[in-house]
Amino acid sequence: MVEFSLPKNSQVLPGHTFKAKAAQNVRVIEVYRWNPDSGENPRLDRYEIDLDDCGPMLLDAILKIKNEIDSSLAFRRSCREGVCGSCAMNVNGKNTLVCTKAISEYSGSIKIYPLPHMSVIKDLVVDMTHFFAQYAAIKPWLHNDEPHEGEHRQSVPERAKLDGLYECVLCACCSTSCPSYWWNGDEYLGPAILLQAYRWLADSRDQNSEERLQQLADSFKLYRCHTIMNCTDTCPKGLNPAKAIAEIKKLIVSN
Ligand code: SF4
Ligand code: SF4
Ligand code: FES
Repeated sequence: MVEFSLPKNSQVLPGHTFKAKAAQNVRVIEVYRWNPDSGENPRLDRYEIDLDDCGPMLLDAILKIKNEIDSSLAFRRSCREGVCGSCAMNVNGKNTLVCTKAISEYSGSIKIYPLPHMSVIKDLVVDMTHFFAQYAAIKPWLHNDEPHEGEHRQSVPERAKLDGLYECVLCACCSTSCPSYWWNGDEYLGPAILLQAYRWLADSRDQNSEERLQQLADSFKLYRCHTIMNCTDTCPKGLNPAKAIAEIKKLIVSN
């Protein structure tokens, strides 16, 4: 019988506990910690957060940990408005943008991990190099060589076709919750990049649909999507990447 065992350093061990002093309204937040330079296993540190002395959002609690308890905690954030897409993390098992999630939306202790199935650089920071290389590969800009003066104009219905697409902030919450992307992410473009690809296919001003579709019509790049719908379920912007993928497949069939 074959026996499988995990490498020793893949186990997440219990970490330190940081107590809140003289606080009445405490919430425990457990955070994945891993420093590649330490040679130690990852650990889950427990922080007691005084909610009477903390902003309302999960990002506020994480900033409080960094500013007041443990300055070595590494994570990404910028806009704190759900716009930059950099604060994506896995919270209680679901990927989300922590700046858009109120602490009050969760009950009990809250567990925060890095985005799943990504290489961890440190703590909550994952390596996005491959994800953004895949984004660059779809040539995400307007292809239109027609001479024109001023703006490329669109009718109201043409512009409306971009609704539900342009709002994507490339946070990768969807792609890193997609089982197909976990197993085939080296070649499968994943829901985020495919939604972006469809954003240009749906743009009335873009003249490169044929070449875009030719490049997407690939058994790995596109057809690894098996309509599992984790992507749509998790998107913190309420978008529907699975529908965008289905639209690309329809365009390929009709072309
Ligand atoms: S579709 Fe949603 S989850 Fe996916 S990258 Fe865009 S905003 Fe993030
Ligand atoms: S619908 Fe497709 S892209 Fe979305 S999670 Fe499922 S397999 Fe992945
Ligand atoms: S900090 Fe920009 S999306 Fe959360």
